[in-house]
Amino acid sequence: MTGFTRVRGTLVCDEVALDAIAREVGTPCHVYSAALLTSRFAALEQAMASVPHRLHYALKANSTLAIVRHLRQLGAAADVNSAGELEVALRAGFTPDQIVVTGVGKTRAELARAVSLGVAAINAESFGEIDRIEAAAIAAGRDARIAVRINPDVEAGTHRHISTGASTTKFGVSLDEARVMIREVARRPRLRIVGLHVHVGSQITTSVEPLARGAAIVADLARELMAGGVALEHLDLGGGLGIPYRAGQPVISPEAYAAAILPAVRETGLVILLEPGRWIVGPCGVLLTEVVDTKTRDAGTTFVIVDAGMTDLIRPALYEAWHEIEPVVSRDGAAVPVDVVGPVCETSDTFASARALPPVVVGDLLAIRDTGAYGAVMASNYNRRPLAAEVLVEAGRWRLIRRRQTIDDLLQWES
Ligand code: LLP
Repeated sequence: MTGFTRVRGTLVCDEVALDAIAREVGTPCHVYSAALLTSRFAALEQAMASVPHRLHYALKANSTLAIVRHLRQLGAAADVNSAGELEVALRAGFTPDQIVVTGVGKTRAELARAVSLGVAAINAESFGEIDRIEAAAIAAGRDARIAVRINPDVEAGTHRHISTGASTTKFGVSLDEARVMIREVARRPRLRIVGLHVHVGSQITTSVEPLARGAAIVADLARELMAGGVALEHLDLGGGLGIPYRAGQPVISPEAYAAAILPAVRETGLVILLEPGRWIVGPCGVLLTEVVDTKTRDAGTTFVIVDAGMTDLIRPALYEAWHEIEPVVSRDGAAVPVDVVGPVCETSDTFASARALPPVVVGDLLAIRDTGAYGAVMASNYNRRPLAAEVLVEAGRWRLIRRRQTIDDLLQWES
């Protein structure tokens, strides 16, 4: 069994007991399973095997260097959303032709860097951006490869903060605008349209329909463009496949996902790119935290106060997201409803409300599950809290892949 399992009452990661890691590294601490990363990446690869494809791992989900390197070694390509992620991808060993650059507000500097590197595609989001890419291409004296990001006007059916495919959102251009844009680009010698891009939203679990519709819409446009002589190379269908944050929650399997998107795109003959983030890394991480206090209010609420906060995992505060929480070492006794909260001075610094948890006492370790995606990457230094340590478990051993920040680290940029 790869990943996180319970062995004689203790939560282990690939045979390494999590309490042993916490004792040495301290808490809060993110722990990742390399074996689970490997098997999840392979499962997605397998589901897509019937078409020419590339999995451009979305670094925004987790861009810790060792994680990105591991995925590169497995054969992933990369999707980056900022200059910072672009440099991380390069340092992790990706070559520019393995990188697609997305983002709704790329700066001139970011475009200049992407163009001069010669990335696989810049996913263009507006007419103005086309002009800026062209200026960068002329300045660099090289051609720029562009994919047009289509806003398909599809409701993703997920949390409104992470829905990106509706026409009311800031993302992409409409089909009509895309047609005009592509004609326009054909007249500009330094620009080449190589693909179409769509991303309807993230954490899609209830229906494949939005993903299938997004794919069908770009496939139809691709056929129309190719019939008109546009030499496309790929269709980039974005990310979005969700994971079961709640134990037993039904989700879409990679096979069901492939079965939904591939019929529409297969006969275009184009290479299919995906930009998965969460599905690959989400379940591969847990956040270890220690109970620092407990107290019960007259009204009956029991608070379990832990040393991790919204600064280490903001998803519950930002999206009211559910993450399973369990003691690392089980104690006997009936589960009782508690509020698991962090130390940050905000009421939103709450990981779970009225959650049934077995008895815990100060000093116990808890594991907050499925924090591999959008966990460490969304951390902040609010309340001057140092960023947590990160550990990778691989082949029965663990190693620190990012040490805990110190107060000196925090102050080194200040006068
Ligand atoms: N491609 C594009 C253009 C995206 O905007 C995203 C995610 C992805 C790929 C990767 O999507 P995934 O496969 O991970 O669903 N912080 C939020 C999630 C924000 C997702 C933003 N875009 C959360 O914690 O739920």
